[in-house]
Amino acid sequence: MADQIPNTPKLDELEKGPWPSFVKEIKMAAKNSPMARDLLGVLELSYNEKIGHWKHGGIVGVMGYGGGVIGRYSDMPEEFPGISHFHTIRINQPSGWFYTADALRTLCDIWDKHGSGLTNMHGSTGDIVFLGCRTDALEPVFEDLTKAGFDLGGSGSDVRTPSCCCGPARCEWACYDTLALTYDLTMHYQDELHRPAFPYKFKFKMSGCPNDCVASIARADMSIIGTWRDDIQMNQDEVKKYADNGLNIQRDVAGNCPGKCMDWDGNELKIENEYCVRCMHCINVMPKALRPGKDRGACVLLGSKAPIVEGALLSSVLIPFWKPEPPYEDLKDLVETMHDLWCEEGKARERIGEFIQRVGMGNFLEEIGLEPLPEMVAHPRENPYVFYEEYYEEDDGDEGEE
Ligand code: HEM
Ligand code: HEM
Ligand code: SF4
Ligand code: SF4
Repeated sequence: MADQIPNTPKLDELEKGPWPSFVKEIKMAAKNSPMARDLLGVLELSYNEKIGHWKHGGIVGVMGYGGGVIGRYSDMPEEFPGISHFHTIRINQPSGWFYTADALRTLCDIWDKHGSGLTNMHGSTGDIVFLGCRTDALEPVFEDLTKAGFDLGGSGSDVRTPSCCCGPARCEWACYDTLALTYDLTMHYQDELHRPAFPYKFKFKMSGCPNDCVASIARADMSIIGTWRDDIQMNQDEVKKYADNGLNIQRDVAGNCPGKCMDWDGNELKIENEYCVRCMHCINVMPKALRPGKDRGACVLLGSKAPIVEGALLSSVLIPFWKPEPPYEDLKDLVETMHDLWCEEGKARERIGEFIQRVGMGNFLEEIGLEPLPEMVAHPRENPYVFYEEYYEEDDGDEGEE
């Protein structure tokens, strides 16, 4: 079966249209790879039978690592020997996804030699993803990767590969060095990255400004998003030029400001900075006229996740303004306290955001020793989950009244 590219009328449908197609890519790999040929075969079969042919489970990995390899076996190994094992390997990407052409060639050569030839640049964790590896090839792949200076990423119930936007390397909006923080956290959490020991996964994602190009607020347990705390920098001459060139500043800039704190009288732009929520909207529309302030740092948020046990969550503010300065000990101390609590009290497969929902933000903050702040409350009147103890009478021991 695996010596020629199989007939795949159903899959061929997915090649039609103007968009890129994974079928096209797998067919290209299939010219050299029997694994890719069998992958096409089993996929076509699944489309016909409307059932999957992948078995879940079987622990695979490399010596000393519990994370990084996601094990997968086919339930039809006789019919499709090429994919009887088809493990996914995560490889820790460089901060900001910067490679030399040589590094990319090295990665591709390693993968052509040992695996299916199919890659995913990049997985949603940020990792370089190698798709389709036999169990007996895992150690050789790992050895070659190690020689080339690459390490496995996270998978399972561990710290997932930290990832970040390109930050100050290419983007003028970066309010802190996302690349430096990502590299530092990656090196610091080596044990937690490679040996799953948590109730469930824990993700760090770093964005340099509120545009949040790595979508950390939805995708990371801990989102570290650049921001500023002084006034937006403004160049009135450039504002004027935007107006002269036809930008409708009242409607398209001031009118869309969520803080409702901008005023344009046709001549001068005014911003009431104390009401600015640092959304980046006005700066994105008039990049020559406006810039983030000069006193820059980051907002640290916690708790987002996709739905599994509970519904989808966005992260909540944990520290409204933090100055990221190497070696970032203040942040690491806080993370350690949180991890200890979550590992002790969390249920299996419970993300830290779900844990906070279960125990209550107020209790969580108290345990990790953080003062509650107004920024941590999404809807004060609907959801007063932060309790200010000075509001209680001395003898009012009934903390959990609801
Ligand atoms: C053998 C069948 C496969 C199964 C059951 C499977 C399942 C999984 C699982 C459970 C994960 C890890 C999710 C997590 O823990 O976050 C994963 C990663 C991934 N797999 Fe597969 N996988 C298989 C083969 C493939 C194939 C054939 C492709 C595409 C050609 C693919 C694409 C991906 C991608 C894009 C990721 C995410 C990588 C990342 O974001 O880091 N997988 N897969
Ligand atoms: C019924 C269908 C599906 C279920 C039950 C499902 C379930 C999940 C779960 C539980 C996660 C982990 C969420 C987390 O990080 O907490 C996940 C992540 C993911 N899923 Fe799905 N999924 C489904 C369909 C799909 C499809 C059709 C695709 C792509 C075509 C997809 C792509 C992904 C990717 C890329 C991630 C990683 C997201 C990230 O880590 O940022 N899923 N999915
Ligand atoms: S998140 Fe901000 S700093 Fe990072 S790349 Fe996007 S716009 Fe630039
Ligand atoms: S950053 Fe957002 S909230 Fe602040 S002034 Fe600009 S548009 Fe308004």
